[in-house]
Amino acid sequence: MKILVIGGGGREHAIIRKLLESPRVEKIYCAPGNGGISCDAQCVDIKAMDIDGVVAFAKENAVDLVFVAPDDPLAAGMVDALEQAGISAFGPRANAAIIESSKVFSKNLMKKYHIPTAGYEVFDNSQAALDYIKQNNVYPVVVKADGLALGKGVIIAADYQQAEDAVHSIMDDKIFGSSGNQIVVEEFITGPEVSVLAFTDGKTLKPMVSSKDHKRALDHDQGLNTGGMGTISPNPHYDQAMAELCSRTIFLPTIEAMAKEGRPFKGCLYFGLMLTKDGPKVIEYNSRFGDPETQVVLPRLKTDLVDILLAVVDERLDEIEIQWSDDAAACVVMASGGYPSSYQKGIEMFGMDENGQVEGATIYHAGTIKKEGKFFTNGGRVLGVTATGKTLDESLEKAYCAVKKISFEGAHYRTDIGK
Ligand code: AMP
Ligand code: GLY
Repeated sequence: MKILVIGGGGREHAIIRKLLESPRVEKIYCAPGNGGISCDAQCVDIKAMDIDGVVAFAKENAVDLVFVAPDDPLAAGMVDALEQAGISAFGPRANAAIIESSKVFSKNLMKKYHIPTAGYEVFDNSQAALDYIKQNNVYPVVVKADGLALGKGVIIAADYQQAEDAVHSIMDDKIFGSSGNQIVVEEFITGPEVSVLAFTDGKTLKPMVSSKDHKRALDHDQGLNTGGMGTISPNPHYDQAMAELCSRTIFLPTIEAMAKEGRPFKGCLYFGLMLTKDGPKVIEYNSRFGDPETQVVLPRLKTDLVDILLAVVDERLDEIEIQWSDDAAACVVMASGGYPSSYQKGIEMFGMDENGQVEGATIYHAGTIKKEGKFFTNGGRVLGVTATGKTLDESLEKAYCAVKKISFEGAHYRTDIGK
């Protein structure tokens, strides 16, 4: 098979590495890819949002399957366009990807189908939102832009002033553009967070092994929110009993709800959960594999990923048994100096071999570019340094050992992933 993967981050590198294990794969293309991906697949110079470009390339090159990994092309209907052109695609159609691209949609879905989540109100003008927050007078309060906002659309306001600033900047100053036409004002809930990715063909759902993200930039959960500075799998807070409870009260009700709404979800559905003292609740849904969750989940997959993708596309996921390794996995993200605020690109990297790898670990490239055999930084999150082991401690030790072999000016990473 010829497979085209859309995207160019660490998640896509992890997907490609797993696809390469399949005997069914003859050729992998990636649009646009990155420096590390170029060692494993043929990168093509098409942007992840260029729907016409992707459809044309897939047709011209007789691509058998397109794997659309990022949120924005899914929300913009890339899978719909590919299907209309007769090309198989893994990922939800736009009418199902809305479960991530509109928080108003997902909150209303959960309310309608009694899926546990934090209490909330929706507003389409800032004065009404502020009147409500003032009258309610409970802090912290969570303010969320309705639409996609590069992972920055959630603000936890400690007092009225912070809430007022958040509401004004999202709704009046439109810092996230039209994503801020509506907002969700949400109850602040607490508890350990768990990420669960699941394969689903719209009828059957098969959860993957659990993971835990580390979203803050600095050690001890300090600093700004990022796209994720590291992950571990399994998540130590998530046991078999919790998995069963989540399946019954959250996972299955969600795919049933989407089917009832005429929006069957096919692809990978990501459940961002919080285990509160009142039970597990949904913090967010994503319509795709998480980044950097994928980097610790897929290395543990033993079943051929291509078989699973085709079963999802053909709606026969019930026929497949998916097996996972009992090993643990850890991923430490190495980021550019200054990330998640402004940072430089084009800094030379040292310590990796010609394939961008280091012995004893797997280096998933995110923001890198390869020129004349050398690697240079090309983004905020640069590498996901990943290792597996019999225990979590062993995987962490191996990952940190590999991190220490790699250097580039300004590099920073958290030293407390999994601690
Ligand atoms: P999101 O972008 O939806 O993943 O939200 C970013 C982070 O904000 C989550 O990982 C949580 O840590 C936090 N968060 C979101 N909603 C709530 C909530 N209702 N209560 C407490 N924390 C929240
Ligand atoms: N790591 C969180 C996400 O992919 O949205």
